This record gives sequence, structure tokens and C-alpha cells, in this order.
Amino acid sequence: MNKFATRALVALSGSAIAMTGLTVVSANAAEETGECRVVTTGTADWSVRESFNNYLEGPIANGPAYKYHGGIEVRDGVETTGTKSAREFTWPVLGSEEGEVNLGGGVHWTGHNHYNGDDESQAADNFILDLDFSNPTVKFDGNQGTLLVDYKSREFIDTKTVADFLTGTQAELATITFDAPIDLTQESVTVTGQTALTETGVDVMGTFYPEGEALAPITLNLTNEVVCDAPEEPEEPTDPEEPTDPEEPGEPSNGSSNGGILGILGILAALGGVGAVVYNYLVSTGVIAAFK
Ligand code: HEM
Repeated sequence: MNKFATRALVALSGSAIAMTGLTVVSANAAEETGECRVVTTGTADWSVRESFNNYLEGPIANGPAYKYHGGIEVRDGVETTGTKSAREFTWPVLGSEEGEVNLGGGVHWTGHNHYNGDDESQAADNFILDLDFSNPTVKFDGNQGTLLVDYKSREFIDTKTVADFLTGTQAELATITFDAPIDLTQESVTVTGQTALTETGVDVMGTFYPEGEALAPITLNLTNEVVCDAPEEPEEPTDPEEPTDPEEPGEPSNGSSNGGILGILGILAALGGVGAVVYNYLVSTGVIAAFK
């Protein structure tokens, strides 16, 4: 792999993105071709449902009261504050594709476990309520959207049966209606959506909520930047006898070419919309390519 050590990172305004005609393309496609793409970072606030967390940590499901597991446990970048109905989860944003924002991490809820013995391996088979959500995806089109999750949830049969797990990957848990359309060409996006349980979600939540029941609202706090990867250069065969001198004239140096393209892109970024036009012109005349 002869990849540039650094990527050219250029924060452009939404109008500059529009002027350069940049679209959101997949990371893989961008790496192969050296295209630019929008990289989205940030967080999402989604507590799933206040009354569910309240029930789980209260005297009915008794989540935190059991000997094993703490009722509600988070992992892989999800952060949580508060307890019961004040509990909140903040999910990490891993990136975006056209029309979707990908979140990471997971949350695990356990309750209704009547095992009190010393063999911890037995505890897992005694939680009648055992629910896990991970890697949520927010799909959007205008101000309508869908919330997808990987889930694992024990089916609710009755109050005595530890049932088998229902599982799903990127299953539609809820529909979303946002208060504004999501526009990933804006550097900063904060948008809240109201969620409603899907038919799939009814079984995932133990059939205690009907289809259409409101879950907690979801708020996306996003930052979008344009990142350009230089295309991969073909490996040049080197003579193992001949020591290579990075300073020797004629030897391409990653440092200087990176400096060149970073410098040009940095100036263009500073110029904003005008810079975008100049950038397009340099690409069309091959000047930018000379630095790659
Ligand atoms: C021993 C087994 C279970 C018992 C005795 C039980 C009992 C209850 C009771 C009494 C309520 C009403 C709580 C309230 O009104 O405050 C409730 C609510 C609920 N249960 Fe369970 N449950 C059991 C298993 C499950 C399982 C396996 C799930 C699957 C996720 C589940 C999910 C729920 C949900 C989502 C609610 C509604 C909470 C809310 O928003 O108020 N339960 N359960």
C-alpha cells in the first residue's frame, strides 16, 4: 500500500460543497478514486423510552436489584446519565452515507430474573426480560425517516417462561418524523425526530406497546466535513541494493506532495465558494493532479 500518510481535510461551507458539486459517496469509493466525501461525526440522544427505563429500574422489573447485571448497561461508546425516567443515552455517530446516519454502540436491559444462586452462568438463562439494541441507523428522506437497530430480545410468553431470543440485524424499529429535513451539506446539523414503534418493534418490546406507540424522540447533533483522499499510487519496484534517499531529486516525497495539495486545498478552503471554483478549474486543467 502506498497511501499518503495524511488526508486532505477541508472544511467547506454548504454553499462551497454545492458549488464544487460534491456528493456524499461511500468511504470505499472515495479511497479508490481519490474523490472527496462528506465525513459526519457527532452524537445522537435517544433514551429509547422514558417509561420503559423507569419500569426496568423500578420495583416491577427490578433490573438493578438482581445479583448479576445492573439492569441497564451500555457499551462501545454509548454514554448514559440519570436513572429511571431521567435516564438518557448518548450514542456515537460513526459516519454517514447518502440518506443515512450510522450510530455505534449498544445498550443492554435485563430484568425479571429470579436466580439468586452462586453460579453466574445460570443468571443469563433466568432473565425473562433480556433486551439488547446496537448499531442504530437513522435513514432519512426529507423530514421522514426510519430507525433501524440490531436487536436481541427474549420473546415475552408469560411471567414464568424464559423464552428464546428474537434477533434482527438492521431491523426497522421505529418510524421518525423530523422537525426539519436533514441536510448533510451543512457543517452543523441539529435535528429532532418523533419516533413511532413499527410492527416489528411490537414483538421486540415484548408486545407491551401497540404499533405506532411513541418511543423517545431522537436528536442528532452532527458535524459534516469534506475529506479528500489522494488516490493510491502504484508501487514502484525498488532495487534492494540501492539505499533510497528521500531528499534525492526526482524521488517523489509524500511529505512535499502532501504539503502541496494540503496547502492548495487549505487556501481554497479559506477562499470558500471562490476557492471551490478555482479548485474545479485546477482539477480540469490537471494542475491539482500534478501534486498527487
Ligand atoms: C416475568 C416477566 C414479566 C413481567 C412479570 C412483566 C410485568 C410487567 C408489568 C406489570 C408491566 C406494567 C408496568 C407499569 O405499568 O408500570 C410491564 C410493562 C412492560 N414490560 Fe414487562 N413483564 C415481564 C416481561 C417483559 C419482557 C420479556 C419484556 C420485553 C422487552 C417486557 C417489556 C415491557 C414493556 C416494554 C413494558 C411497558 C413499560 C412502560 O413503558 O410503562 N416485559 N411489564
